[in-house]
Amino acid sequence: MFNSIVYIQRRTILRSKFQSGILLFLGNGESPMNYAHNPYHFRQDSNFLYYFGINDPDLAAIVDLDEDKDVLFGSELSIDDLVWMGRKEPLKDKCAKAGVTHLVAPDKLAEYLRQARLKGRMIHFLPPYRAENRIRLAGWLDLNVHQVADFASVDFIKAVVAQRAVKSVEEIVELDKAASISADIHLMVMKTTKPGMYEREIAAAIHAEALSSGGNLAYPVILTINGEILHNYYRGNILEEGKLVLNDSGVETAMGYASDLTRTFPVAKKFTAEQKDVYDIVLNAYHHSSNMLSPGVRYLDVHLESCKQLVLGLKDMGLMKGDVEAAVAAGAHTLFFQCGTGHMMGLDVHDMEDLGEQYVGYTDTLKKNTTQFGLKSLRMGKALEAGYVMTVEPGIYFNKELLDSYQVEAKFLDFINYKAVERFRDFGGIRVEDDFLVLEKGSRMLGKYLANTTAEIEQIRAGAY
Ligand code: GLY
Repeated sequence: MFNSIVYIQRRTILRSKFQSGILLFLGNGESPMNYAHNPYHFRQDSNFLYYFGINDPDLAAIVDLDEDKDVLFGSELSIDDLVWMGRKEPLKDKCAKAGVTHLVAPDKLAEYLRQARLKGRMIHFLPPYRAENRIRLAGWLDLNVHQVADFASVDFIKAVVAQRAVKSVEEIVELDKAASISADIHLMVMKTTKPGMYEREIAAAIHAEALSSGGNLAYPVILTINGEILHNYYRGNILEEGKLVLNDSGVETAMGYASDLTRTFPVAKKFTAEQKDVYDIVLNAYHHSSNMLSPGVRYLDVHLESCKQLVLGLKDMGLMKGDVEAAVAAGAHTLFFQCGTGHMMGLDVHDMEDLGEQYVGYTDTLKKNTTQFGLKSLRMGKALEAGYVMTVEPGIYFNKELLDSYQVEAKFLDFINYKAVERFRDFGGIRVEDDFLVLEKGSRMLGKYLANTTAEIEQIRAGAY
């Protein structure tokens, strides 16, 4: 945990945005895989972590604005817990580290909320993303379980987003650490991957390194020779020379701060000429986009710049044609780049996605485009501020099914040379991704430098086998 002052100050700032009522925080519980005592890896709710820092299951907390007190609801370990799970730091000591003086049994929370409702006090809560919390809220607040999220407090969401979006000095230390650990892991992967290995062997090595760093994975490893499938979790292919390996993996530190890095490299020691051409287009888009990051710049414009640079390169290769701006406006580039250029990152790899993309990445005057293919996957569009942490991750993806579907529909005939694209049907995908901190002017990459040019990657691959 950070120093207790950090959590006290965070709650003081949050409190200052409200006049009255209750701010309710629900931590996460253990989540069973196949029976109650066989749980998934425990992950605390990031809002709870941010304001209270306690990384234990089955906690809740209230910031009571009218009574000017913070209350934590949770139990000390029972004798059964001590027998089965072992000794842990007492919850009252953790409360002290979070700067909370009121520790109350969890079964008192329902009554606390009932009394508040009887007095007509406003209970602000954040959108629940776990079924258990949705059910609890529905019970406490007399809401239809399917509509609970509709009653989440917009004021609370906006206040949390404004605060968590701007990373503090101690958070940046953690984010730098996460990015550096991840860069080391990516380098290890480039150095040790050999033809004949299964994708899953490399994914397992990445997971092992994440755990041995003291943290864990920030999201499931994407380690695939079919990098054109954006979130490809299948890891059963054997690596063959001629194919590319796309490694999209990041760790979170023990404090929960994430990294998100992607590199694409050849199974062989060298890229083919075609792989190099496509790689260089992606890397050029990465540089153009990351160089734009600065306060006041809309991330939507960073994304559109990525798209334009990709189209320019694809035109040079003869795969696209026509006016670049018009191609991007029409969405023709989505045959090759179907997603957004990046997202906010912090305690979540997609930071605060549980609070809603409209609130996190857009504004009342810049609404998220929820219908246009490509733009609907852009999680961030609004202007950047100093302290924001963003990923930049352009890519080129040759998806066979999308190619067939666009061709059948005769889409974008003014912009796409389908005959030329046909040759790339089995090419796969390339993405290059790093994490950036927006500064007062410009930005800087988080963590240590990781090879990203084809020459640097080939130099590493030369010693791999
Ligand atoms: N790197 C995984 C993602 O951004 O979804």
